Amino acid sequence: MSIHIVAEPDSVAEAVLLPGDPLRAQHVAQTFLSDAVRYNEIRGMYGYTGYWNGHRVSVQGTGMGMPSFSIYATELIQEYGAKRLVRIGTCGSLLPQLHLKDILIAQAAHSDGGMNRSRFGWSYEFAPVATFGLLEKAWRIARRLNLPAVVGSVFTSDQFYDEKGEEKARMAASLGAMAVDMETCELYTIAAIKQVEALTIMTVSDSLVTGENVPSEERQVTFDSMVELALHTLFNE
Ligand code: HPA
Repeated sequence: MSIHIVAEPDSVAEAVLLPGDPLRAQHVAQTFLSDAVRYNEIRGMYGYTGYWNGHRVSVQGTGMGMPSFSIYATELIQEYGAKRLVRIGTCGSLLPQLHLKDILIAQAAHSDGGMNRSRFGWSYEFAPVATFGLLEKAWRIARRLNLPAVVGSVFTSDQFYDEKGEEKARMAASLGAMAVDMETCELYTIAAIKQVEALTIMTVSDSLVTGENVPSEERQVTFDSMVELALHTLFNE
């Protein structure tokens, strides 16, 4: 039992999927897992454990933004023994060549966030990167499944509504970031600190270049192919 996840100590699998939205966690459990049991409902932040192709796997909502994400990831690792964490989320494209519904496998994260300054101080610049083993598997499996996936960096921002958003998006894109999200930097940092494996896979839900976004009725289909990719990646199948 931990503060935000109230469950038995062995409730969570070593392999965990992390959507921001707890209702997505519920959808994943209902659609992809067999014998799924809901182990957490504190704050409505649902977590489930079940089986996919015979492998034990959990799916836990995290909320939005690095501070919320950090709470759930830390408790999953520290209190419940999670060892392989794959964030499944959405991102906003920063480049014309990254299209709506494409899948971005995040290799590294830029950030304007405050958490790593607070952790490491001003004189140490930590480089938040994916676990190469998971990254390589995701890339290989995405090609096998014929998914529109690319590998690149993401800009993890603290603010969705940002007075300097356009300026930051331009700078991030000029430095090679392909998209913006609000969690990946923290996932890769915690994974390094706790020495576990981590990867972010995201579908492009909107474009900061064109202002377009994926209509909600189409989001489910793209989300589901990303979940397939994440599950195959976690178990190298
Ligand atoms: N900004 C930050 N996070 C996001 C976005 C965005 O435009 N789209 C999806 N996640």
